[in-house]
Amino acid sequence: MPNVTDPGPHGDSGPGQHALTVIVGAHGGIGIRVGALLAARGDRVRGVIRQADQKADIARVGMEPVVADLESATVTEFTEIVAGARTVIFTAGAGGGSSRERKDAVDRRGVSLVADASAAAKVGRLLLVSAMRVDLVRDGAEPEGASPTFTDYLRAKLAAEQDLRAHQQPWLILRPGQLTDEPGTGHVTLADAVPRGPVSRDDVAAVLVGLANRIDVVHRMLELGVGDTPIEQAVTSLAPADG
Ligand SMILES: NC(=O)c1ccc[n+]([C@@H]2O[C@H](COP(=O)([O-])OP(=O)(O)OC[C@H]3O[C@@H](n4cnc5c(N)ncnc54)[C@H](OP(=O)(O)O)[C@@H]3O)[C@@H](O)[C@H]2O)c1
Repeated sequence: MPNVTDPGPHGDSGPGQHALTVIVGAHGGIGIRVGALLAARGDRVRGVIRQADQKADIARVGMEPVVADLESATVTEFTEIVAGARTVIFTAGAGGGSSRERKDAVDRRGVSLVADASAAAKVGRLLLVSAMRVDLVRDGAEPEGASPTFTDYLRAKLAAEQDLRAHQQPWLILRPGQLTDEPGTGHVTLADAVPRGPVSRDDVAAVLVGLANRIDVVHRMLELGVGDTPIEQAVTSLAPADG
């Protein structure tokens, strides 16, 4: 197995020591879970939120709150926010009920903004939480039976993936299935392609914590669903990959 505790590009120690992770979308369902898990094991975690009144929630789980709005912040501002991070996790989202414009601004352009900032700050990897089924809209396809808002969502997520794949910033894309708030099972299926189905936010967060350790897994897209493999095993058994 590769040594996943090698120093990162900033000379950080391994997990639990001085690794800094920045979470964009830190007050979201996944964001607050992954931030809490990382902080609990001793990592430094900066949690980016857009509403100042969420600061106390972020601090309560051990993250350092930073207020910034993906729709108005500049690359320079975000470069300062991500400076020193070994990993940036992008798990923000405009939400299903939002307008096409807001989805495009947050789910697509927000990713580019954070990728530009991460590259400028020489962040180790940007982990993007994308979604299964984005391929349904590839090449302008119209998914049968999908609502216009879901189609807009898939288009923004797919475009974000495509922009990131072409970006100089090292990346890793995780596509979970439909998210639930059911308690995590601790078991998943994590692979290049997995059957579509619901997956608990607890389990997604635990997988992201594991992936934050796997600094050798880069330029790879992984799908995530329910399964029988213990999360630690699912993450440690991933082959190192570099585009
Ligand atoms: N729902 C699903 O079934 C599903 C499936 C696969 C993947 N995903 C993806 O998984 C990710 C996380 O999902 P989740 O359920 O944890 O999301 P969530 O609870 O809706 O959280 C998203 C977070 O993004 C933040 N955000 C929205 N606009 C922002 C902006 N302009 N600037 C900064 N932050 C902003 C929100 O902040 P506020 O609290 O201020 O609104 C919120 O905290 C999303 O990218 C989503 O697309 C979802």
